[in-house]
Amino acid sequence: MTTLAVPGPTPPPAAPGVVDLLREAAQAGPLTALRIGDRPFVLATGPDQTQEILARRPEVYVKHGHRARALLGDGLISASGDAWKRQRKLLQARFTVAGTRRWAHHITAAAERIAARWETASLAGAPVDIGRDMRFFALDTIWRTLTGTALDEATERELSAVDTVVASLPTLAGARPDPGLAVDEALRQIDTTAHRVIGLARARRADARPDGPPHLLDLLLDTAETEPAYTDRLIRDELVTLLVAGHETTAQTLCWLFVLLDRHPDVHDRFLTAYEAADGPAARDALVGALVQETLRLYPAVWLVPRHAARDDVLDGVPIAAGTSVLVCPYLTHRVPELWPDPERFDPGRFLPGGHRPHHPAAFQPFGVGARACLGQYFALQETLTLLRLLLPAYRPSLTTPPRGAVFGANLRPDGPVRGILTAPRP
Ligand code: HEM
Repeated sequence: MTTLAVPGPTPPPAAPGVVDLLREAAQAGPLTALRIGDRPFVLATGPDQTQEILARRPEVYVKHGHRARALLGDGLISASGDAWKRQRKLLQARFTVAGTRRWAHHITAAAERIAARWETASLAGAPVDIGRDMRFFALDTIWRTLTGTALDEATERELSAVDTVVASLPTLAGARPDPGLAVDEALRQIDTTAHRVIGLARARRADARPDGPPHLLDLLLDTAETEPAYTDRLIRDELVTLLVAGHETTAQTLCWLFVLLDRHPDVHDRFLTAYEAADGPAARDALVGALVQETLRLYPAVWLVPRHAARDDVLDGVPIAAGTSVLVCPYLTHRVPELWPDPERFDPGRFLPGGHRPHHPAAFQPFGVGARACLGQYFALQETLTLLRLLLPAYRPSLTTPPRGAVFGANLRPDGPVRGILTAPRP
C-alpha cells in the first residue's frame, strides 16, 4: 500500500490562490495530498478516483458541514441520510427529462422576456448588462416553477440578498460564511421573502385548490399535510435551496458562454455558418448544445465538489483517514490533457458527432456524479437551450467590459461585470 506524503504547512493563501495550489498539486497525479494553510486535503482529478468517491462510495465520502448551511438550512443540497432520500424522491420526478417538460412554458415565457429586453436595447443601440439579464432569466424561470408567477422587479431586488450571501461563502468546506452584518441582514431578508411567499401560496390554496399539476411550492405544501417532516422551516429551506441552486449556476454558465464567444470570434463565425446550414431544429439544437457543453467543460459553475471521509478507507491503494477533507475538482478534470487534448482550446466540436471526447462517465462532470449529482441538470440544459435559440441567431454581443479572469469562490464566476453592445450576428 502506498501513502500520500503531506507537505509541511504553507502560509494561508488568498482565496483566488486556492485553484493555483490545486493545479500545482494535481501535477503529481490523479490523487494527491496538499495543504492549504494549515489544513490537509486530498485532491482527486482523475475520473476513476472521482467515480469511486462520488458514485461508488457515497457512504464513505459524505457531505459535511456544508459551506452554505446558514443559507440553505436542511434543504436538499445540505441534507443527508434518510432525510436526503425522502427530499430527493419528492422532487426527482419533477426534474427528469419528462418531468422538466411540464415547466417548458415557464422557461419559454422567461426567455421571451429577455429576448424582448434585448430587442428594445438593440433598436435603441443601448448597452446590455448580460450578467444582470442572465441572472434575471435564471431567477425568473425557477421562480415561476416554484410559485407559478412571473418574477417582479421588487422580488428580484429582495432576492439580491441571496447573491450577497453566496458571495460571502468560503471556497472550501469547513469554514463558516463571513458573519458580516450585511450577510446577517441578507439572511433575514431571505427569510422574510420566503415566509411571505409560503404564506401567499397557503392563502391561495385556502381560497381554491390550484388547477393542474402543482407548482413546486404547492407540492411541498401538499406534502406537509401528510408528512410532519415538512415543517415551515423545511419548506423555507427547500424553497431557498432551489432558488440558489437553480439560478446562480445557470446564469454564470450563460455569461461564460457569451464571454467565450466574444473571446473567440472565429469559433463564433464557424458556429453561425453551421447553424445557418443546419438541417432542421434538432441539428440546430445539437450545435447550441455543443456550445453549452464546451462552456461547462471550461467553466463548470460548480468547479469544486468537497466531501468528508466518514471512516477510514483505501482509495487507489492509498489510505484515507476518517475525517479527511477530499476535494473533487471538475475544473481540473476537464483540463487533463490525456482526456481532453489541447484542453484550454475552446472547441465546441468536441461535443458534436465525430468530435474527440473521452468515454469515461466521470471525465466530464459539470453536473456532478453519482446519487448526489445535480437535480436540475435537464432543467438547466432546457433553460439554456430555450434562451440561446432566441438570442444567438439574432444578436452578437460585443463585450464592452470583458472579464479579465475568473473568481473561484463557491461558484466559478467572471471577475467583473459582463456588459456589451448588441450587434447583428453577421456584419
Ligand atoms: C448549469 C447549471 C448547473 C450546474 C453546473 C449545476 C451543478 C451541480 C453540481 C455539480 C451538483 C453536485 C454537487 C455535489 O455533488 O456536491 C449539483 C447539485 C444540485 N443541483 Fe445543480 N447545477 C446546475 C443547475 C441546477 C438547477 C437549474 C437546479 C434546480 C432547478 C439545480 C439543483 C441542484 C440541487 C437541488 C442539487 C443537490 C442535489 C442533491 O444533493 O441531491 N441545479 N448541481
